[in-house]
Amino acid sequence: MSPDARTVQLRAAGVALVLDVPAAGAPRVIHWGADPGPLSDADVDALRLTGLPGIGSGMPDSGMPLTLLPAHAEGWLWTPGIAGHRDGTAFSPVFTGTTARLEPVGDDPLIAQRVRIASADEENGLRLALHVEMTRSGLVRTRAELTNTGEGVYDLASLDIALPVPGRATELLDMAGRQLRERELQRSPFTIGSHLRESRRSSGHEASVILAAGTPGFGWRHGEVWAVHPAWSGNTRALAERNNMGMSTLGGGELLLPGEVRLAQDETYVSPWLYASTGVGLDAMSARFHDFLRARPRHPGSARPVTLNVWEAVYFDHDLDRLLEIADRAAEIGVERYVLDDGWFRHRRDDTAGLGDWYVDEGVWPDGLHPLTDAVTARGMQFGLWFEPEMVNEDSDLARAHPEWIMGTGPRLPHPQRHQQVLNLTVPEAYAHIRDRILALLDEYPISYIKWDHNRALTEPGDRTTGRPIAHEQVEALYRLLDEIRAAHPGLEIESCASGGGRIDLGIMARTDRVWGSDCIDPLERQQIEAGTALLLPPEMVGSHVASPVSHTTGRAHSLGFRAGTAFFSHMGVEWDVTKASDADRAALAEWIALHKRHRALLHTGRVVHADEIGDGLWTHGVVAQDGEEAIFAVAAVRTGPSWPTARVTLPGLDAGRRYRLTSLAPADASDRRTAHTAPAWWPGPVELPGAVLGQIGVQVPALNPEQLVLLHLTAV
Ligand code: GLA
Repeated sequence: MSPDARTVQLRAAGVALVLDVPAAGAPRVIHWGADPGPLSDADVDALRLTGLPGIGSGMPDSGMPLTLLPAHAEGWLWTPGIAGHRDGTAFSPVFTGTTARLEPVGDDPLIAQRVRIASADEENGLRLALHVEMTRSGLVRTRAELTNTGEGVYDLASLDIALPVPGRATELLDMAGRQLRERELQRSPFTIGSHLRESRRSSGHEASVILAAGTPGFGWRHGEVWAVHPAWSGNTRALAERNNMGMSTLGGGELLLPGEVRLAQDETYVSPWLYASTGVGLDAMSARFHDFLRARPRHPGSARPVTLNVWEAVYFDHDLDRLLEIADRAAEIGVERYVLDDGWFRHRRDDTAGLGDWYVDEGVWPDGLHPLTDAVTARGMQFGLWFEPEMVNEDSDLARAHPEWIMGTGPRLPHPQRHQQVLNLTVPEAYAHIRDRILALLDEYPISYIKWDHNRALTEPGDRTTGRPIAHEQVEALYRLLDEIRAAHPGLEIESCASGGGRIDLGIMARTDRVWGSDCIDPLERQQIEAGTALLLPPEMVGSHVASPVSHTTGRAHSLGFRAGTAFFSHMGVEWDVTKASDADRAALAEWIALHKRHRALLHTGRVVHADEIGDGLWTHGVVAQDGEEAIFAVAAVRTGPSWPTARVTLPGLDAGRRYRLTSLAPADASDRRTAHTAPAWWPGPVELPGAVLGQIGVQVPALNPEQLVLLHLTAV
């Protein structure tokens, strides 16, 4: 491509994006999907011509061009890319003088190609720059910069980027989770109309962090899939639209509040990145996100330390002796990081008070946290500490001293949620206060990990003094705060938690190292929560813990094998009062932790795979090494099936041309005697079989009772 081009071809990892850049108007996507191979200028022109939709009756005379920012001024009749106005005028922008420039990427580890497409609407006083990038893993990401070049204020209502998907993508998949059941996958037909997922709670429990369209019946391993992700830790929109003129789009952007973005002359709004991925099967689609995240220079490179969090063991009851005993037992079973959760700071005896008062509570901790941090580090473990920096209880010294630092629309406060309000980090003094408190604690204690929590929605996210909505600025302030803290403490790791897995977008993940997958640690629920989360994040970025035998959030009881075998694949941890566990259970847990440590290098670098079917109630998922040399699968009985013993299970994602040695992986099978006497003849192995046989014909596993699992280990021979 020449520096100034009318067509643009970006390609990487089997994906191509071909853009037509007309002199007037926004760029049109000629193709986004599987890479057809290099195309000559003549090929691209022919592709463009043969892809032009016809003009049916009832359509604008010039047709209805679908661009990255579809515009009514160009004939588009559906959701526009830009909606806004200047004092009631300039509501239908049209950009001309469009130029596309390829920008150098050098040896950027993440980005393969980058193009900047500039245009302007002189009449309406707007300038637009679109940044389109192809990551080395084959993700397309796009964002817009809209500048008000005219006089007076331009009031932006929405800016949504759209990408076309082929008409054969007739089904949608999005997320319908809630707290304690994050990222439940929901399917619907992709019918004519708009399927809009708005989230007013960051990338929260209600957000569809992935919105996908695919060919009929698409699944983990089959069917063409296209998907988008708005990478923003604030209010977002994800939109799938199919119109009655033969076009379908996926897109989205930030959900702006009324009056939130009012651009004065020369001010610019920068939209969040909209990421887009495509592939055959959901596993291939999500692998592009995993590869992208793993290529980041700051992707956690060290073995993920097995983490013990004391929350479900002690809640707010911070008794030093008990916490020390937990530390002793934790070190004995192989825990590598010990996290002190909520309850350590002033006035925080329960969840009604104290948020904002980030001083170690002198009553509960007369010698500070030192007796605990000393013990933890002396036992060779890292120490982690819980914070909820963006929040404040009305019952706190901070709120009493600075009621104007609480977010709201004016004198009236928003409805509390978990007895708390949101701190306005766009107030420089509030920001500096929180930053300095965190830095002071990081200086005083050997804290190598922060659990950064966020436990309420930003309803009415305004500045109480001005009455203005500031949701966007609050997210920018949060990003700045995280960046500043990380710059001051480069080795510090941060977990993004939001009442469990409520903030997991790629905006926050650019500044944190893992998410807390869910406050629900029931392993049966976690089977689906982790599969849904894997659509975006690789397992090493998802915290998954072994909790007590009876789940605190569902009341279900599970064997240690099912609990540990579920947490095994992710960033594994423990959230159980191990001082109350029997010696036998502690020994078994230590075995599980040792097993995880032996295999975490594979689990946290390999390709995540899921079987398409839950045949007979058995759900098979696993990790296959990038070079196909090794793999580990879990076969979990997530419900009862019509037949028992069950049919064979197939093992997806293996190299069909290789032979594998297959064994069961202790202690999964040994931990529960119910499996042993119903094991098939080959169990526990080894047997040798070609990858093609394992993938297509499969093997018989032990007859599992509901909520049991076994692990299979494969090594290429
Ligand atoms: C949130 C988190 C929990 C725990 C509590 C503490 O709910 O998701 O893991 O940290 O806060 O109050």
